[in-house]
Amino acid sequence: MTTSPTVSRATAVAARATDLSKVYGHGETQVVALDHVTVDFRQGEFTAIMGPSGSGKSTLMHCVAGLDSFSSGSVRIGETELSTLKDKHLTQLRRDKIGFIFQAFNLLPTLTAMENITLPMDIAGRKADKQWVQQVIDMLGLSGRLGHRPTELSGGQQQRVA
Ligand SMILES: Nc1ncnc2c1ncn2[C@@H]1O[C@H](COP(=O)(O)OP(=O)(O)OP(=O)(O)O)[C@@H](O)[C@H]1O
Ligand SMILES: [Mg+2]
Repeated sequence: MTTSPTVSRATAVAARATDLSKVYGHGETQVVALDHVTVDFRQGEFTAIMGPSGSGKSTLMHCVAGLDSFSSGSVRIGETELSTLKDKHLTQLRRDKIGFIFQAFNLLPTLTAMENITLPMDIAGRKADKQWVQQVIDMLGLSGRLGHRPTELSGGQQQRVA
């Protein structure tokens, strides 16, 4: 019997949180947003996080993406343990390995849709693969809106730009 490639790919872990806790604030206003969460996100799969409003979904994603600090536990992206990284390397890892669509899309209001799309590459000083960018834009149905600013886009269009 041959080994199925999908089986071996599915076992690789893209990101992992172990015993992760995140506490906001102190004393009476303290909020335990994550309470010892352990979860694997595997390569080549979609993972949905579901739960009531305020249960910590966004907090978990922010911590696993290296966008926010956590109180205890650990987070790994691939083989890299985030707590070992200095700010500069964390920034590089986020830029190279992580795409993030925020709940509030966080587009830059003064930039056009196109400029928002290429912003991470522009900051990194890299040239975008024009064909690939065009393919993604076509796939998302944004080609007629590239010169518009975020306030001139619908919610769905802003989401797809993000
Ligand atoms: N900066 C903050 N300071 C204090 N408490 C916070 C902060 N951000 C989030 N919280 C609290 O942490 C808890 C988890 O918030 P989070 O945004 O992760 O929830 P969520 O599951 O994404 O909710 P929703 O479905 O409404 O987006 C909530 O009780 C929230 O009020
Ligand atoms: Mg949320």
